[in-house]
Amino acid sequence: MTAEEDVAPLLRPEGWALLEALPPYDAAAALGLGSRLREAGQPAATVAAALTQSRLRAAARGKVGAFAAGMLFTTEGLEQATRLPVAARHADRFRRGGATRVVDLGCGIGVDAMAMAGMDLAVDAVERDETTAAVATVNLRHFERARVHLADVTDFPDPLPVARPGTPGGVDAAWVDPARRRDGRRLFDPQQWSPPLSWALSLPGTGVGAVGVKVAPGIERDLVEPDGPAAGWTAAWTSVDGDVVEAVLWWGSAATTGVRRSATVLRSVGSAGPDGEATVQVQEAGTLSDAGLPEAAVGEVGAYLYEPDGAVIRAGLVGHVAAEVGGRLIDPMIAYVTGDEHVPTVWARSYAVQAVLPWGLKRLRAHLREHGVGRVTVKRRGSPIDPEELRRALRLEGDGEATVVLTRRGDERVVLVVAPLPGP
Ligand SMILES: C[S@@+](CC[C@H](N)C(=O)[O-])C[C@H]1O[C@@H](n2cnc3c(N)ncnc32)[C@H](O)[C@@H]1O
Repeated sequence: MTAEEDVAPLLRPEGWALLEALPPYDAAAALGLGSRLREAGQPAATVAAALTQSRLRAAARGKVGAFAAGMLFTTEGLEQATRLPVAARHADRFRRGGATRVVDLGCGIGVDAMAMAGMDLAVDAVERDETTAAVATVNLRHFERARVHLADVTDFPDPLPVARPGTPGGVDAAWVDPARRRDGRRLFDPQQWSPPLSWALSLPGTGVGAVGVKVAPGIERDLVEPDGPAAGWTAAWTSVDGDVVEAVLWWGSAATTGVRRSATVLRSVGSAGPDGEATVQVQEAGTLSDAGLPEAAVGEVGAYLYEPDGAVIRAGLVGHVAAEVGGRLIDPMIAYVTGDEHVPTVWARSYAVQAVLPWGLKRLRAHLREHGVGRVTVKRRGSPIDPEELRRALRLEGDGEATVVLTRRGDERVVLVVAPLPGP
């Protein structure tokens, strides 16, 4: 079914009523439920759309929590949507910078726009896909100061007024979360995104006072260097529970003064909701930036290994981790920190080093067998060896577990056998 077929029947009162009357989604019961509804006289297209939506609402709980129950989704729109608590942090940045009216340029199903509207910002959400714009309109229906416009964003600032002196009430901030996939494939070239990155980076020229542009976490750090295309912007990476979820380029009053790169580590708040599901809320464990970034020394592997959080690595801030744990890098080009003390830190996972071996399959196998290790977790940085192939080639038996770290020191390949330690 197309996104339009998934959504259009639900925009009619009888379709919406059917959706709202459905029991909580149960994959095993969906087929039978569909047959019963059709036998009771409900049109097949409406039943199919309502059941699809019921499934999407269940899938969306991980991103938007209990709000999912009152929202509409498209499959693609849900995949591309920001997690609501992360969206709330975008909105908060704009608000703290003094913005009052934000234009969301390419709003998708509207999760970022919902967070902005929920924080009392007026929102003009622009979307060029008709079905997606209809879904965003439904999702923003409770917010009086949010409007959805069916339009191409590259026409902005027409016809929306920018808040220049003398035009009060105009747009004073812009948010862009470009589509970074086409036909289900990820687009690695930022110029292929829609809208393209260079267009988003030109938005300060419209006169808005603050801009945020979501980019791929793997974006080049050099972008924000003084000679880069985003000089003067702050690049902010964010991880949730150790997974890097986004990078955003911030400009104007939404940027952080004196900061080119930052990394924020968030943790899910694990308490269960009333229906037993985990909540989607997050808590900030901390933020690091390149301001005052210490240079890390390089040296021998010590008694402990630290694997920095992905956001810290992407932002190029591993020097802070080394400073905090009193450690050093194993290799100047590789983001593993080692130290002689165990200092639990939110910036890295820590491990006790049990053995340091020169690379060699036979040597590693003999070591692991001797220690009764039957199962290994393989990690690698700076090593060409495929972890899955290594696991197969080791042919281990036994109950013991170990973590094997494949890395290098200069040209020398090394293997560390380590055991995870508790975090802070
Ligand atoms: C990554 S999604 C936005 C997700 C949104 N931030 C959220 O949290 O739900 C990008 C959206 O931009 C829209 N888009 C891409 N190019 C556009 C253009 N030139 N004009 C208007 N919308 C566009 C796509 O249709 C897509 O829905």
